[in-house]
Amino acid sequence: MSTYENLLFESEDGIGIVTINRPKALNALNAATIHELDRMFDELAQNDAVKTVIITGGGEKSFVAGADITEMQKMSAVEGRNWAKLAQAVFSKIENLPKPVIAAVNGYALGGGCEISMACDIRIASEKAKFGQPEVSLGIPPGFGGTQRLARLVGKGRAKELLFTGDMIDAAEAYRIGLVNKVTVPAELLNTAKAMAQKIMSRAPVAVQVCKAAVNEGLDVDLKTGIAYEAEVFGLCFATDDQKEGMTAFVEKRPPNFTGK
Ligand code: HXC
Repeated sequence: MSTYENLLFESEDGIGIVTINRPKALNALNAATIHELDRMFDELAQNDAVKTVIITGGGEKSFVAGADITEMQKMSAVEGRNWAKLAQAVFSKIENLPKPVIAAVNGYALGGGCEISMACDIRIASEKAKFGQPEVSLGIPPGFGGTQRLARLVGKGRAKELLFTGDMIDAAEAYRIGLVNKVTVPAELLNTAKAMAQKIMSRAPVAVQVCKAAVNEGLDVDLKTGIAYEAEVFGLCFATDDQKEGMTAFVEKRPPNFTGK
């Protein structure tokens, strides 16, 4: 992997951990960090040693406290639109990486921080995490996909309440409304994310990959088109060794040994 100023990367047992690391600004996403995330996810797409990705925040206090307000303060309308489009493209790259991506939310996930977590497949939160879309207090709406992904995750009514009030919610409330999948004590956050990654990696990789694609594609189209897509990827998996191995292992009453082929 190439070198980064605002991101840390480590990889172990097939899990790549990306840490957004600007702790002095509570890991706020400035343009340099967005460009680094773009490069990082291009590299991760090509890196066969990394099977699952975890995104977390550096320091104790924050996952990501939003887009960098100091950089946005003097933007023109055109610059604002281009900034939103740039980060949206990077977040879509994260969302569509053909490998699972888990957000391990260790603290503040506000504005662009909540939005990057929602571009991940699964969110695991520390009890200390706080979520919110406080943009309306700054005179703007969310611009990194928040109005769209929040409504898709928690429903229209709850999304609108969070978007209109700018209120912060704690991890327990985020869990209650379906914004996060799991809540852990802070010390166990990364281990919990890694355990989930390991469990996912023990399943048939191509099957997991097509599940991700089918959910993502399906949520953008009508049910008829979505289930038609599902039938295609279902059929495709019968061309894999892992389908044969999975079903043979079941019949032989032994654990499967998947190869990802
Ligand atoms: C730039 C930020 C920042 C941000 C925090 N900092 N959030 N800098 N952009 N989004 C900086 C602070 O200025 C401060 O720098 C340092 O980080 C520590 O923050 P404090 O405010 O001193 O910490 P605390 O009092 O504990 O409050 C934590 C906080 C607060 C509640 C998270 O920092 C906060 O409200 N931050 C802004 C949250 C927000 O509005 N996010 C949405 C941004 S808009 P100094 O130099 O003073 O130490 C957005 C839009 C996305 O995300 C779409 C765009 C198209």
